[in-house]
Amino acid sequence: MSKTIIITGGAGFIGSHVVRLFVSNYPDYRIINLDALTYAGNLANLRDVESAPNYRFSKTNILDAEALATLFNETKPDAVIHLAAESHVDRSILSPLDFVYTNVVGTVNLLNAAKTQWAGNYEGKLFYHVSTDEVYGALGETGFFTETTRYDPHSPYSASKAASDHFVRAYGDTYDLPIILSNCSNNYGPYHFPEKLIPLFINNIINRKPLPVYGDGLYTRDWLFVKDHARAIDVIFHRGKKSDTYNIGGFNEWTNIALVKLMCSLMDERLGRSEGESEKLITYVKDRPGHDRRYAIDASKLNRELGWSPSVTFEEGLAQTIDWYLSNGDWLKQVTSGDYMNYYDQQYAKR
Ligand SMILES: NC(=O)c1ccc[n+]([C@@H]2O[C@H](COP(=O)([O-])OP(=O)(O)OC[C@H]3O[C@@H](n4cnc5c(N)ncnc54)[C@H](O)[C@@H]3O)[C@@H](O)[C@H]2O)c1
Repeated sequence: MSKTIIITGGAGFIGSHVVRLFVSNYPDYRIINLDALTYAGNLANLRDVESAPNYRFSKTNILDAEALATLFNETKPDAVIHLAAESHVDRSILSPLDFVYTNVVGTVNLLNAAKTQWAGNYEGKLFYHVSTDEVYGALGETGFFTETTRYDPHSPYSASKAASDHFVRAYGDTYDLPIILSNCSNNYGPYHFPEKLIPLFINNIINRKPLPVYGDGLYTRDWLFVKDHARAIDVIFHRGKKSDTYNIGGFNEWTNIALVKLMCSLMDERLGRSEGESEKLITYVKDRPGHDRRYAIDASKLNRELGWSPSVTFEEGLAQTIDWYLSNGDWLKQVTSGDYMNYYDQQYAKR
């Protein structure tokens, strides 16, 4: 094996796409998926790569500094791609401390594990931290977040991600740890946990349940197909400049209400329902506190310097996503029923 990479949060939504891409495209890399399997971690996301010879899973919590030290010492990683996090804004409003622990303390634990293991010998080493555009705060009607936009987080989630970004940069500045960061806009695609807007609404439309839209529905987000995020991480990991930050986005802004209406129409077509039937499920609900009005990311640096751009349009990506959920009803059922939590025990009991 030419390289060992620890990918944290590999059983989650984006992490599973990153693990799949690296395991499949780089058979000479040893990929270690480090994940605590919280409610958001689901090893069934990785069934197609779990028996690959260059893949290994480690059930480890990034809050457990001792376990991290043991794993780093045993596997001697060349790089870390860090995605493990508490990631849901609504949950952060209910339990901010969980976000401080995992996103801030967990990240510092990982930085310490890498720093100790590499012991100043940084040749060929990299700590890649995956972050979000939410650290930049909210925009008015115009303008974009660039890599130099001042941090201005508003939710406990974005505040904890901002703090973790600062720690990663501080370890770069203070200890010369080789680091790189990327901040990405909202992702969508297969294997997305159905508490987030797009999979939640697909599931609700299938089951004719209400589609709760916050406030006036005019909140605007930039959406990126998850496989394009994974491709961007691959490019940045291999060719990005050390100590640098790259914004990743879809150049694709949608208000929530326009997005929901597009989903309803695509789903009506596929479910053989009459046009407009699913739109009747839309219900406006009380706004989320501290709700950022508009996010829009300028990903032109990544395009200019490393040649990356999204591979699918939003309409194509959304159609692919809906088709995936419609033909993976078992996955959706397992997740919504909670049965996926047993997968680890079943899977690893066999071995
Ligand atoms: N989802 C998005 O739209 C988006 C956009 C930009 C950036 N990000 C960032 O990308 C990363 C992944 O996001 P996601 O949507 O895939 O999240 P996710 O919630 O789907 O997955 C998170 C994973 O981390 C694991 N995890 C949580 N706490 C852990 C701990 N203490 N120790 C070890 N593992 C733990 C979970 O089990 C899960 O597998 C996060 O850092 C997030 O901030 C997400």
